[in-house]
Amino acid sequence: MSEGAVKKEEKPRKFQAIRGTRDLLPPETAFWNRVEQTAHEVFATFGFGEIRVPIFEPTELFARAVGGDTDIVSKEMYTFEDHDFSDLDKLRTILLFRAPDIYNLHSISLYKNQLAEFLAAFEAGLAKSEMPIPSTPDNRRALENLQKLVTSINFILQDFDSTPQVLARFDLRVDEARQALRVISFGDVLSLRPEATASVCRAYIEHGMNSVPQPVKLYYMGPMFRRERPQKGRYRQFYQIGAEVLGGSDAPAIDAEVIEMVMTFFDRLDLQGVQLELNSIGCRECRPKYVELLRAELLKVKDKLGADSQRRIETNPLRVLDSKLESEQGIIATLPHIADHLCEDCKTHYAAVKHQLEMRGVIYRENWRLVRGLDYYMRTTFEITAHGLGSQNAVCGGGRYDGLVELLGGPATKGIGFAIGEDRLILSLQESGKAPAAQGRDVYIAWMGDRAHATAIRAAKDLRKAGFSVELPPVELKFGKALGQADKLGARYALILGDNEVAEGLWTLKTLADGSQTKFTEADLIEHLRKSNQVSS
Ligand code: HAM
Repeated sequence: MSEGAVKKEEKPRKFQAIRGTRDLLPPETAFWNRVEQTAHEVFATFGFGEIRVPIFEPTELFARAVGGDTDIVSKEMYTFEDHDFSDLDKLRTILLFRAPDIYNLHSISLYKNQLAEFLAAFEAGLAKSEMPIPSTPDNRRALENLQKLVTSINFILQDFDSTPQVLARFDLRVDEARQALRVISFGDVLSLRPEATASVCRAYIEHGMNSVPQPVKLYYMGPMFRRERPQKGRYRQFYQIGAEVLGGSDAPAIDAEVIEMVMTFFDRLDLQGVQLELNSIGCRECRPKYVELLRAELLKVKDKLGADSQRRIETNPLRVLDSKLESEQGIIATLPHIADHLCEDCKTHYAAVKHQLEMRGVIYRENWRLVRGLDYYMRTTFEITAHGLGSQNAVCGGGRYDGLVELLGGPATKGIGFAIGEDRLILSLQESGKAPAAQGRDVYIAWMGDRAHATAIRAAKDLRKAGFSVELPPVELKFGKALGQADKLGARYALILGDNEVAEGLWTLKTLADGSQTKFTEADLIEHLRKSNQVSS
């Protein structure tokens, strides 16, 4: 077969949404909008205002807030270096990985020139006025070292007599240059946000929100990104609806009201099988002592635990309590409960949160194993599960995070919040039969003839202005065909406009459900539709 023939048969690549991402289509998107609209309404009644934060932030922000050892930060973030220096980056790769042949004068001089070229461009990059290479301590140190090394290499090679000593000195400098090159970063290291609490705290600090009346109550909705193994209810791009209360006191009534707000929202959506689980994981005073006790107890049974839990004894013993491994459940049941090891302040706080929930009629179940997978939590933690979600059944997670704002460079600030997994919320609503009906049209305009077309365009404009959804066929169709289409689109009415109707100034409105027809003047039509809409809605 000739090459041309192969080319002809090559089919263009079929593009598909990336694994773990998906398209949301109508009519489902109408349902998403309804859920989001309900969140706007319910959260506003609790005095929350919407915040929109960027989809990417410095990786360091998430590492610091969520924790470098958590699965989210250590394995699941989409991270990239953001800079304008790809040529320089390539030259660095050459200098790093193509070692000069020290017995070849040409190779040595090429290396020397390339290093000098790199240094000059690096200096220029640092001095650029727009989008420069960031002047981080690492970069400044690398610059200083490279300047010294280039001078030193020039000096060594000045009267190059290739004695073993000279070659060894040159080789040493190449090694040092590699070390300097390795630490250079040409731009910020950024990540797609895996969650939004860190961003909201960053924004709280950046906009000096601590100087407005406290607490500041914010909510957000939008996509988050985690490189997890996709399955039902677990995606790599997923959506959260979340809220945060920052500043002011840590009064238990705040914890309870935040939880009451999520429950009210779920109730409004008629979410089925809602179960709230509650715990307190203590504070900086009492938790370390409990963690040590837990570690000691876990070490005693280390051999009976799986590899993940064995590792976590060292890194984060609390996470062992999260284990779903069947073989570990018996062991975990015998471990000490944190509730028995809380300090007096945490104990009082936890008791008051429970009391406050009871006052609000919020039903909860205590779960001493609820520790959550993000490092910033202290005291109150909670998770909510719902009907029909299989193994990924947490539809909401949250908790208190006093001290996070401070950790990110802001003032000492109390904080509590939650995030709802919107994909899971919608899945659960659909599983219990709350799927949206396909979106029909109010009016389908069946027109025939040029004069009727002009009238139809005007009628469509007026009807849409009055808030009705209108389908106006772009080309003339026989009335029979047009009415068939109106049916297929689920239209409630067909407005029939032919030459007669236009000449008489009386338009025919056909109700598609029963086939009845009535004539209206242009002025009466909208009034009639408005009234019948009020009756039917
Ligand atoms: P989180 O528990 O990591 O907490 O996530 C909250 C919710 O997001 C989960 O309960 C789940 O419904 C949903 N979710 C998480 N990962 C995925 C995924 N891969 N696919 C689908 N849904 C997912 C946080 O993100 C904290 N920022 C919550 C918070 C706010 N705590 C205090 N304030």
